[in-house]
Amino acid sequence: LRTSGSRVEQFRKKLRVSEIKEGDGADVLGRDLVVQGWINDGSCLSNMQCVLNSEAEGYDQVESGLVTTGASVWVQGVVVKSQGSKQKVELKVNKIVLIGKSDPSFPIQKKRASREFLRTKAHLRSRTNTFGAVARVRNALAYATHKFFQENGFVWISSPIITASDCEGAGEQFCVTTLIPSSQDTTDSPVDAIPKKNDGLIDWSQDFFGKPAFLTVSGQLNAETYATALSDVYTFGPTFRAENSNTSRHLAEFWMIEPELAFADLNDDMACASAYLQFVIKYVLDNCKEDMEFFDTWISKGIIARLSDVADKDVVQITYTEAIDLLSGANKKFEFPVKWGCDLQSEHERYITEEAYNGCPVIIRDYPKACYLLLSSFDIKAFYMRQNDDGKTVAAMDMLVPGIGELIGGSQREERLEYLEARLDELKLNKDAYWWYLDLRRYGSVPHAGFGLGFERLVQFATGMDNIRDVIPFPRTPGSAEF
Ligand code: 4AD
Ligand code: MG
Repeated sequence: LRTSGSRVEQFRKKLRVSEIKEGDGADVLGRDLVVQGWINDGSCLSNMQCVLNSEAEGYDQVESGLVTTGASVWVQGVVVKSQGSKQKVELKVNKIVLIGKSDPSFPIQKKRASREFLRTKAHLRSRTNTFGAVARVRNALAYATHKFFQENGFVWISSPIITASDCEGAGEQFCVTTLIPSSQDTTDSPVDAIPKKNDGLIDWSQDFFGKPAFLTVSGQLNAETYATALSDVYTFGPTFRAENSNTSRHLAEFWMIEPELAFADLNDDMACASAYLQFVIKYVLDNCKEDMEFFDTWISKGIIARLSDVADKDVVQITYTEAIDLLSGANKKFEFPVKWGCDLQSEHERYITEEAYNGCPVIIRDYPKACYLLLSSFDIKAFYMRQNDDGKTVAAMDMLVPGIGELIGGSQREERLEYLEARLDELKLNKDAYWWYLDLRRYGSVPHAGFGLGFERLVQFATGMDNIRDVIPFPRTPGSAEF
């Protein structure tokens, strides 16, 4: 559809194939179109069926076998009613031009490739229907995230990726290393100064220009600094965890959405988390119909109905103590025994959301701050969580969803300086390292609360994809950073 005009006008005149195929296609019937794309096996969702006969210009290239799966083409033709049942309209081709031919080794061929195989072809798997649909739904969820927070008066804050502080205090950080040429006689040219591999000039110093630094595990502490100035804020960016977890819900690099609400308590936090989840789920149901139907048919039967329920019903809220009662009364044998003070394991979380609450999201609040054993106890909750008056629990909450477990973790923050200092001591964390965080409690401290949502787990929840490695374009898991 490109016509003359400025570059921007031309760009705007580009239609997506989905727009052409929408409805019964009546408004585009008979129209002359130019389509550019890649040849696929016909199963792709953003597919435009192109039919050509021997009269079409360029047909000789097709006949000689040059236009194969994976090749890129320019095609011009007329939109006609399709003879087939799979699509309403198709393109009757007048002219085809091969832009880039595809080598016969193109690995994504007609037969259904396994997800494991496709992970080894992460640079090409985006051309399959599944990964195309995941990318579009992921995009819609990101857009809906900004839309929700922007429409509710939150300010987006970029939190740093390199930081010296450990938000979770769990020591699961990747260390930052500076690459410095060790030779003294470096030239003035910055290009020449870049060390080349194996030239013997590289000094791998274990620090960030002489200071320790890590990749961030969470932007929360930084978000708190802005929340205690601008009121409600949120972050949305990559975070990193050096945990050696090879599960279907853990990544070493994942994206987190972290709202932080000022003048707010745990109830406000839970209300925000529920409203956010309902908003983004409704958004994809309304705006990604074709992709959602694909997931419903091929990936997770009934997902549209289940998500519609989530969008309509309020999220259940129970206390940790109620959760323990529920688990103790369950007619089920758990691998890990259930006792007040135990850390909930994923089998417990799954029972609560999948069985006790029949597949609905559930928020559990007021967790014990420590895991109490017969003769000892160890702390399980982060230093920044506000202590409840009972002295045993903290104002923390997790939202659990079926199939995944923990989707959201949040809390009301400890805004009382003396409690926070005592807690840092109790956990044997270095108070000096948190001096700036403590300052927020010195200068106009206010009750505030927030949460973190793992974006990839949300994409899993919305698509029904069972492995987290398949909902991020280039997954980073232990030992895997090739692409
Ligand atoms: O529960 P987490 O560790 O909480 C925090 O980081 C808080 N500072 C958040 C806050 O209050 N602002 O992580 C939050 C969420 C989890 O519920 C989970 O969805 C996701 O981040 N998450 C991961 N997702 C993928 N891979 C991992 N390794 C993850 N670790 C946490
Ligand atoms: Mg958590």
